[in-house]
Amino acid sequence: MNENRKTPVISQEQLDQQYALCARVAEYWRSRGQSPVAYVETYGCQQNEADSERIRGLLSQCGYGFAQEAEGADVVIMNTCAIREHAEQRVFGNLGALTHTKRRHPGQKIFLCGCMAGQTVVTDRIKKSYPHVDGVFSTHHLWQLPELLYRVLTTGKRTFFIEDEAGSVAEGLPVRRDNNLKAWVSIMYGCNNFCTYCIVPYVRGRERSREPEEILAECRDLVAQGYKDITLLGQNVNSYGKDLGKGVDFADLLEQIAQIPGDFLIRFMTSHPRDAGPKLFDVMAKYPRIAKQLHLPVQCGNDRVLKAMNRHYDRAKYLELVRYAKEKMPGLVLTSDIIVGFPGETEQEFEDTLSLIEEVGYDALFTFIYSPRPGTPAAELPDPATKAEKNTWFDRLCALQNSISEKRHKAYIGTNCRVLIDGTDGDLLTARTEGGRLVRLAGSPDLIGQFRHVTITGSNTWSLIGDLNE
Ligand code: 5AD
Ligand code: SF4
Repeated sequence: MNENRKTPVISQEQLDQQYALCARVAEYWRSRGQSPVAYVETYGCQQNEADSERIRGLLSQCGYGFAQEAEGADVVIMNTCAIREHAEQRVFGNLGALTHTKRRHPGQKIFLCGCMAGQTVVTDRIKKSYPHVDGVFSTHHLWQLPELLYRVLTTGKRTFFIEDEAGSVAEGLPVRRDNNLKAWVSIMYGCNNFCTYCIVPYVRGRERSREPEEILAECRDLVAQGYKDITLLGQNVNSYGKDLGKGVDFADLLEQIAQIPGDFLIRFMTSHPRDAGPKLFDVMAKYPRIAKQLHLPVQCGNDRVLKAMNRHYDRAKYLELVRYAKEKMPGLVLTSDIIVGFPGETEQEFEDTLSLIEEVGYDALFTFIYSPRPGTPAAELPDPATKAEKNTWFDRLCALQNSISEKRHKAYIGTNCRVLIDGTDGDLLTARTEGGRLVRLAGSPDLIGQFRHVTITGSNTWSLIGDLNE
């Protein structure tokens, strides 16, 4: 036990109670002579993908097999995203459509979880207007899924596990991974940053780090199983360890993982420019097992807007970070998130974002038009720019980034890259460079799972074309 840690760990006894309930759910189906199937639909970010793998792990322990669609499934779980309004509207639409699958299969149990489940406005709406939904559980209650399922199956009563909690960490939950080459490893949960536009700190709670020993054990196990590409996940990985009181920070953790023997790559996301710094970049540069890839969201290039976003860095500090990282890692692949049209942003301020993008020369960007999230400070700010203006800015941003991505991809032509061959696309193989860029190449599917060298022969905005080196 780590006496210094500030956030609780779910006890083994509590977990054992859940595992006992898994056995009772499995018995429920066995006694009826049925083999139940589950369908899990995931929206949003990699954190949700990772949570869905744990949900499938628990369902598997409850005796469920898996379906590719909601039709005919005995349990449907919608793991949702709340980051933008559009994401929520899609979920409500798809949730509404489940009235039909349930009518055709009346025993179907429907649950909603993930970030939307952390908002009272959403759960109230589900209670009132979506009577076919059997239960809701927030991310804090994921580990209690067996209990929720057992209650709903045996009582038929709608059940909500949504109490707002500071949050805890549940270690050792079973995981059913989607892919046998690439694995997500959550190293921490929640976020303390309260960027003024963002709902995440409200729905996922405060930052809680996993113990380094637990993370290392999971990574060692993945490498031993043959996983080749491990992505460490957290809303803000750079503040890893602050709540542990052990003096281990993210750079220390990364270094320990990079020392695990084996042929694999580690990536991580997301980094916050406020907390990322030279120590991290030095560790990245030192170890070949750490991918030279950095997702460092800047959000915008204007100091007034950055301040209003509560980002705690300015343009100059960001550019200095990038300069240092590129100097240490010449082939670094750098990506970012950008929000266009934050409340009160002017055209001139938006143009500062364009100039920053040009100055940095990102490999790719994830671009978003600002979406007001009720309950966040930014949603209260005056927002005079029109939707049409914001759309025009957004199009200018995308056009600029496309031309930069295209140029950066062209520069790969003639170079030799080490790639992990990870799948097929039509007749071609797909692969990822160490920096995470997509490469298509001809070759036998037997090569999937291998690191190989390729010569890049062509490119477009989104991907590279390569020839296998013998
Ligand atoms: N509107 C638009 N984009 C948002 N993001 C977070 N909140 C919002 C919002 N309210 C973006 C940020 C973040 C990414 C995951 O989503 O760019 O980095
Ligand atoms: Fe949201 Fe900011 Fe936390 Fe990222 S760092 S999850 S943008 S509050």
